[in-house]
Amino acid sequence: MRVFLGVTGASGAPYAERLLRALAAVDCEIGLAASRSGIEVLATELYGDPSLPPEEVLDRFVGTAAEQVTVYGENDYRSPYASGSARVDAYVICPCSMATVGTLASGAMQNLIHRAASVALKERRKLVLVPRETPLSSIHLRGLATLHEAGAVILFAPAGDRRPRRLRRRALSRPDRDRQRARAQVGPMTSYESGTLAPDVVRTMFDRIAPIYDAMNRVMTAGLDRRWRRLAVREVVWPGDRVLDACCGTGDLAIEAERRGGRVVGLDFSGRMLERARGKSGTIEWVNGDALALPFADGEFDAATVGFGIRNLEDLELGLRELGRVLRPGGRVAVLEITRPKGLLRPFFRLWLDVLVPLAGRVLPGGKAYTYLPASVRRFPGPEDLSRLLGQAGFQDVRFRLLGGGSVALHTAAAS
Ligand SMILES: C[S@@+](CC[C@H](N)C(=O)[O-])C[C@H]1O[C@@H](n2cnc3c(N)ncnc32)[C@H](O)[C@@H]1O
Repeated sequence: MRVFLGVTGASGAPYAERLLRALAAVDCEIGLAASRSGIEVLATELYGDPSLPPEEVLDRFVGTAAEQVTVYGENDYRSPYASGSARVDAYVICPCSMATVGTLASGAMQNLIHRAASVALKERRKLVLVPRETPLSSIHLRGLATLHEAGAVILFAPAGDRRPRRLRRRALSRPDRDRQRARAQVGPMTSYESGTLAPDVVRTMFDRIAPIYDAMNRVMTAGLDRRWRRLAVREVVWPGDRVLDACCGTGDLAIEAERRGGRVVGLDFSGRMLERARGKSGTIEWVNGDALALPFADGEFDAATVGFGIRNLEDLELGLRELGRVLRPGGRVAVLEITRPKGLLRPFFRLWLDVLVPLAGRVLPGGKAYTYLPASVRRFPGPEDLSRLLGQAGFQDVRFRLLGGGSVALHTAAAS
């Protein structure tokens, strides 16, 4: 059975939680989308902390049902639930706000939840709306009647305050709500599925997959990753160079730079990835730090490398500027990153990235990382755009070459 669950910004989050658990208990496949205000309500009503980051709210909400639940961004129209041709057994909006009722009744559509509900109505599939708000104005009632006539089941959730005690006493103050809203309006929605995660979540994710990271790399690239790292290092590192390997992870690129004769510093913000790196080399200086605020002086390095890490930065432009800052004028950078190939290999790459990698994630620890990986590749700038961004960050002589049949881009550039 396959069910879409939309969560909107109305009181009644505990019903959504119970429904999710009940569906998961009968092994139902669940597509979940929550609006921004829906997430705010989940954070407030279920976890008593409206300041929780959205991705953490959704992680907690999904909880042990992670195997059955796929979370979609509010505007992810590529989700199967946006299409009438995907097989879906039922659609539920719980809680369902009166704003949602109004939008649906007018035939308008502003997000995936509206789109899924509208698909349900036009395809004459089961659509259950769970409002809770009372009293209702004649506008609300007319909206509910319209949707009922169009085929929706209106199932009012019983009243009764199930919010945590602390919140009942101290419902969100207005400044808190304003701050929360402002935060929600700034920046993109973060989720594994959108390929955009907050730095804390990225760090936790890499901490979790550290034990299998190297093995997964070898398997996913058929061992080619070693060759790509070697090529990157050869382009920018000369014996005696002081080299920074940013986002060094388990250290393979840094080790390659040391083999080439560099005096190397490896930097990463995941303690677990660094632990693995430390186990591989005692001569490289391993630093726990943030690539967006490098703990180094201007012009300190002759060369810098980043292997498959730049895609994870919350602020790509800032990351590039930081690399430029710590390089001496003329110092060179090499950036290796996965990219989407054009031409013949494209269908194979898509099969690998969109089907096989997420499948691997279903059986491996930290599996969500393998949902994030393809999504982050999809949203990351292509090689031409990354070249442009390097130029804008002050680099000169920007070049790139494609490796692995066009699935990996190696950019090189010189700091000015
Ligand atoms: C895909 S791994 C790449 C590891 C390694 N460079 C390689 O070639 O295999 C990405 C790494 O970037 C790190 N990372 C992501 N954002 C970071 C940031 N803002 N500061 C430092 N490290 C970061 C992660 O912790 C992770 O270890």
